[in-house]
Amino acid sequence: MKRNEFFSAFGISAGMLFIVPMLASCGKGALDTSGIIVPNTGGGSAVDFTLDLSQTTYSSLNNNGGSLVVNSIIVAKTVSGSFVALSAICTHQGGSLSYDAGNNRFHCPNHGANFATDGSVLNGPAQTSLKKYNVQLIGSSLRVYA
Ligand code: FES
Repeated sequence: MKRNEFFSAFGISAGMLFIVPMLASCGKGALDTSGIIVPNTGGGSAVDFTLDLSQTTYSSLNNNGGSLVVNSIIVAKTVSGSFVALSAICTHQGGSLSYDAGNNRFHCPNHGANFATDGSVLNGPAQTSLKKYNVQLIGSSLRVYA
């Protein structure tokens, strides 16, 4: 896939790529009109971003049991309707986790580890809990932060 095709597939234009870093450099969180992730802090590696759930890109989070992965963080709306954000990378050998709504847990397909919604290990081979992030919903804006 060529770069232009990649950006088109995700609805990202060259202009958006220019605008996002400018907003991030302001040091305050903001949503642009497309609902793309805009960091709330300038620079650094701290996790702090906001998703506009009114945008189709993130619409899966409007349904209980929905989930998506953003910046290697899996964000889920659990079957009970609460939001959870955990590292999407399995602590065993780095597999990509998914939210298993039927069992309200996070599953690694590589070797079968499962994690609770608080990030703790339900069963191995993983031995270490997942990093859990804070979430805050205000209106349709879901902030995920460390
Ligand atoms: S990488 Fe996830 S269980 Fe092995």
